[in-house]
This record gives sequence, structure tokens and C-alpha cells, in this order.
Amino acid sequence: MDHFYAPGRNHLFVPGPVNIPEPVIRAMNRNNEDYRSPAIPALTKTLLEDVKKIFKTTTGTPFMIPTTGEAFINMVIAFIVCLSVCTIFRLTGTGAWESALTNTLSPGDRIVSFLIGQFSLLWIDQQQRLNFNVDVVESEWGQGANLDILASKLAADTARTIKAICIVHNETATGVTNNLAKVRRILDDYRHPALFLVDGVSSICALDFRMDEWGVDVALTGSQKALSLPTGMGIVCASPKALEASKTAKSVRVFFDWNDYLKFYKMGTFWPYTPSIQLLYGLRAALDLIFEEGLDNVIARHGRLGKATRLAVEAWGLKNCTQKEEWVSDTVTAVLVPPYIDSAEVVRRAWKRYNLSLGLGLNKVAGKVFRIGHLGNLNELQLLGCLAGVEMILKDVGYPVKLGSGVAAACAYLQNNIPLIPSRI
Ligand SMILES: Cc1ncc(COP(=O)(O)O)c(C=O)c1O
Repeated sequence: MDHFYAPGRNHLFVPGPVNIPEPVIRAMNRNNEDYRSPAIPALTKTLLEDVKKIFKTTTGTPFMIPTTGEAFINMVIAFIVCLSVCTIFRLTGTGAWESALTNTLSPGDRIVSFLIGQFSLLWIDQQQRLNFNVDVVESEWGQGANLDILASKLAADTARTIKAICIVHNETATGVTNNLAKVRRILDDYRHPALFLVDGVSSICALDFRMDEWGVDVALTGSQKALSLPTGMGIVCASPKALEASKTAKSVRVFFDWNDYLKFYKMGTFWPYTPSIQLLYGLRAALDLIFEEGLDNVIARHGRLGKATRLAVEAWGLKNCTQKEEWVSDTVTAVLVPPYIDSAEVVRRAWKRYNLSLGLGLNKVAGKVFRIGHLGNLNELQLLGCLAGVEMILKDVGYPVKLGSGVAAACAYLQNNIPLIPSRI
């Protein structure tokens, strides 16, 4: 018996894990199967081919890594004891990070890595613990990666000591999206051979992402974000240059070793160890839904959700944590609250009174922001429910909001911009 039961649907607006669509839930609701039977390699083959489309690559090699997930359970526990969600086990994206780093680099290698929020901080912590020589470029939380500093570091690096650039495309803690096309341009301007490693955990399948066009060498995501699956699968995609680098990379790796996968790819059996059968069928269903809607339509939908949320925040008279328009995120909005309000109280109230799950402020912005996740399998009317809830909560906690103001601003924009549903035209 679920003693947290509340009638109706929970309004899940944390920036991952996100809602799982019904067809995906149904596709996963099945018994285990022998993964060595012909059915699973046949299914895996289609997945490996189709998953490349979400990275917009034809030349990349994907790895679907079973990284067991407890993030959601921990999030609930952390919520109850009012801790920051990021302190305990982080797995799906975290495993994908480790896979990207250890397969392409050797201990002591110099990396330029951008610190702009909690997730870039955690990735940098992993890079340091894996004994890379990390050159951290820090920005104020709410700002994007400082690419002028990148340019000056590359210009100064005539000896080509920088082996990789690590960047989080969308910093989920602050709602900041970095300009990856610009990173590529800077690398090209200096003809610098550094590998370009990108965390696309809260961007891929929701924001514009072009692995081949932007010359990304390793891109990664996690199943529980825009793919709208349960936690548990990290997906990493390696360029030919990254695969080449993996032949000489000396970092110790076992579970994450691409080579083990490649051996099994060659044999046509695909799995060096037992995959989650349910997740594979779920991924098939999730990709089918994305392709039926059309990836570019999915990205456009996220554009509308992001814009509508930002218009609501403005109408409430509150500020977005993201400091400039060029960095705003269409998958998560971190809303700054006035100093006399504790943003954790907003999140607590949301859950206790309105059955709405919002994201806490993490680390440096704890207590200062609450986050509205608007990614994955979500539509505009669902978002309006969340925005209406936030207005009531803001009033509950003593902020003088005009009820309906944010919803009206969002509706005015959405009513003019929602297209017909692609599959129903
Ligand atoms: C941008 C980003 N990178 C990495 C992670 C870590 O992912 P996980 O918790 O699945 O290990 C997250 C989690 O929210 C994230 O938002």
C-alpha cells in the first residue's frame, strides 16, 4: 500500500526522471527473456541503428550501457529528509560520464572543463577522482560556459597539451544551455585536436543537438530524461576519432570498456553482460514515439514549453536564474525566489498540497531557486497545470502573485503557437 497515495496523477515536473508514456509502460510490462535468443540481438540491432538518429549522427558508434538506477528512489528519500537530491547515488548519467572519460583518456591527461552548476561540478569531481589534470573554467551559477577563456587557453596551447574539452550542454541545476556550435568553431579556429566530450543528459532528444555537424567526439545521455524511460540505461555515442583514441587510452576500465561491447557487436550478439530486457523494449517504444512525432517536432515542442514557462515566470514578477537570453533552457527553468522565501518550502508545499513535484535548488542555489522541469513526454496543457499549481504555492508562501497571471501569459503565447498534432493532421 502506497502511503504517499494522492488521487489523480502526480504532476511530475522535476527535470528528470520524467513521465513515462503509456505505450512505453505497456511495452516494458513483460516477462524476462533469454538475451541470447535470436529476438534480442535482432531488437538490439534496430536500437543501435535508430538511437544514432537522436544524436544526429551517421558516423558515431552508440553504446547502451546498463547503469542500474536508484536516482528516483533516492530523490524521494532525499526529499522527505529535505536534503539536496544530488548527494546520494547518481548513476545513469554518471556511468555514461565515466564511460566517456575512461575510454578516451589516460590518467594525467589535461582536460578543460566548464563549471557552471551542480552537474558540471559533479562531472569535474569525477574527472579529478579519475586522475585527469582538470583545468576548470568557472562561471557564476546562472551563466553559461566562458568560451572566451576557452579560446585563450587553446591559443596558448601550442604544445597541444589539452586532450579534451568537457562541457555539459544543458546544466540542469541552473537551466543554462551552452552553445556547442560555438565550441566547435573555437576548436576549429585554433585547429586544435582536443576531443570534444558533451554531457547531453538533459538536452539530447529535447534540444537541438547535432553530433556530426558540431564534431562532437563523445555525446551521452540517460534513459530517464528526454527519452522518457525509467532510469537505468546510459547511452554513449563515440565518433570515429573517439574510437581511435580508445585504442591508446590507458584509464582503467572494466564495466564501461567499449572494447567489450565492440567484440560482441562483431559477433552479432551485442551484449557483453545481461541487459534489461524491459528497458530494451521500452527504448524501442520510446524511439517509435519520438520518430512518429518527428525529432524536430519534439524539439519544437520543447521550445514552446520553455518559452511558455519563461513568460509565466516574467508575469509572476520573478527572475530566471539564467542570466542571459542566449543561455535559456527549453528543458528546465530555475526560478529565483525573493530572499524572504525558502525555495525548498515551495517544493515541499507543491508535493504536500498539490501533488506536484518540482525540482529543488541544488548546492549554491539551494533555497534560492526551485526548478520546473519541462522535458520528455509532456504537452502544453500538462504544463499549464503545473504553472497554475506554482501560482497557488507562491501565494501560500507569501509571495504577492496575481493568480492566473502566469497561466494567462503562457496561454496567450501557446494559443498562437501550438500546431496541430503531427500524427492527426
Ligand atoms: C546534466 C546532467 N548530467 C548528469 C546527470 C547525472 O545523471 P544520473 O543521476 O543519472 O547519474 C544529471 C542528472 O540529473 C544531469 O542533469
